[in-house]
Amino acid sequence: MSRPVVYLTRRLPAAAMAILEAACTVTLWDETERPVPREVLLRGVAGAEGLLSLLTDRVDAELLAAAPRLRVVANMAVGYDNIDVPACSARGILVTNTPGVLTETTADLAWALLLAAARRIVEGQKLIEAGGWGPWHPLQLVGVDVHGATLGVVGAGRIGAAVLRRGRGFAMRLCYHNRHPTPALEAETGARYLPFDELLQTSDFVVVTVPLSAETRGMFGAREFALMRETAVFVNVARGPVVREADLVAALHAGRPRAAGLDVFEHEPIGPAHPLLALANCVCVPHIGSATVATRTRMATLAAENLVATLSGQPPLNPVNAPPPAPSQG
Ligand code: DGY
Repeated sequence: MSRPVVYLTRRLPAAAMAILEAACTVTLWDETERPVPREVLLRGVAGAEGLLSLLTDRVDAELLAAAPRLRVVANMAVGYDNIDVPACSARGILVTNTPGVLTETTADLAWALLLAAARRIVEGQKLIEAGGWGPWHPLQLVGVDVHGATLGVVGAGRIGAAVLRRGRGFAMRLCYHNRHPTPALEAETGARYLPFDELLQTSDFVVVTVPLSAETRGMFGAREFALMRETAVFVNVARGPVVREADLVAALHAGRPRAAGLDVFEHEPIGPAHPLLALANCVCVPHIGSATVATRTRMATLAAENLVATLSGQPPLNPVNAPPPAPSQG
């Protein structure tokens, strides 16, 4: 039996390559760091039945038109805002993602940013590096307390819930906002559901974990930052466009919220001249929420398993859509 042809937009960890190579004819952009140029990708998918994509690969009408045999797009990410899912569904193409395996790792990073912004960790390191550490003094680099404060999580999916659970270890009051209240989460963590504005007004720490959608794009702007407490710390580990970045820059300049920790940006990657980097009260890292060896390996193997399952007629583990069967080609 002929093996399905798949195209990978990057070389993946060996464990994922082994899964794919055992079942498919693998073609790929054979680099680990540099993204595949668009024209190479469009040529690469021409004969492919499966595509393994990263969150930086745009899977849109143009790509689908260049890929007449495509049956499945397996995204190596939990977010899939890089994929035009309705267009895939209309073509009978299944889309899969990698939920679950990155939950705890991403929640850890949200907490790393929360703590770093609250306790001015990066500012402290920069001060020492610049030779500015003079005699100890009472108000040097004073931050805000995390323990006992109010943690408000916006988006109570898997990652949001994991962020809340960690708050219990810091004896925090927990609240969340979601499209709908989640009684199971409340029973497990003691978190309280709050309307969006009330959460912003009462939280000492606002952590965003919502997926990017038409509904959440631009969800945090000047109005929302003005509602936050002057002492609040804002953390985004979701997607950059959930925040109106120019408004955040202005808000941080004005000191409300007091500080921010960001893993994601409106237009990634950002360069050293980005205005957020000029702000001492903003901690920025380059979209590394899921970046541990174990988690990235698991994401890659899960994406590979989704691709192989679909192409061999098995139900995929993590379908995002339920497209009708593709029209027969004969
Ligand atoms: C995802 O999976 O969507 C993350 O942003 C990448 O770790």
